[in-house]
Amino acid sequence: MNLKDKIAEYPNFPKKGILFRDFSPILKDPSALSEIADEFSKYFHTKDIDVFAGIESRGFILACILAARYKKGMMMIRKAGKLPGKTVKLSYTIEYGKDTIEIQKDSIEKGQKVLICDDLLATGGTAKAAAKLIEKVGGKITGFAFIIELTDLNGIKGISNYNCKSLVKY
Ligand code: PRP
Ligand code: MG
Repeated sequence: MNLKDKIAEYPNFPKKGILFRDFSPILKDPSALSEIADEFSKYFHTKDIDVFAGIESRGFILACILAARYKKGMMMIRKAGKLPGKTVKLSYTIEYGKDTIEIQKDSIEKGQKVLICDDLLATGGTAKAAAKLIEKVGGKITGFAFIIELTDLNGIKGISNYNCKSLVKY
């Protein structure tokens, strides 16, 4: 299967000049869903992963698909202000202003191996911040799993010290 056929394109969304790449057609197709799990499981070994971390919100989906396939747990990296209990936050700069992500302090035990998942790598700002946050609570990053990578934006540069796998590149 060519996964590129399962990525929809929406010009001028969410604003003029942006071509939005949407992975929703993958979600509708059971064979595409198992194909993405197959592809990542060829790349990341089960012994190198204790927990899958999904970046809110579309990253949650990939993290859960992979956690189910690998028979491991999943944790959420959320936008700030949504998680109860003791949490740890990290702010990072985006195009205009800043964003903050947050995790529950007990979502990872020290030394646990974490695979961070998101649907898409663009500038890499979110991914880099996610790695810093996981490391802040003592997690060890095994790598990153992305369905889509926008290579022109060179987001990979900020996380090139980690093992990164993207299934479809533009
Ligand atoms: C999109 C995408 C990634 C992030 C990539 O999420 O799903 O998480 O942007 O951008 P970056 O590499 O430039 O940091 P978005 O913030 O649109 O939210 P969503 O997943 O909740 O739709
Ligand atoms: Mg996202």
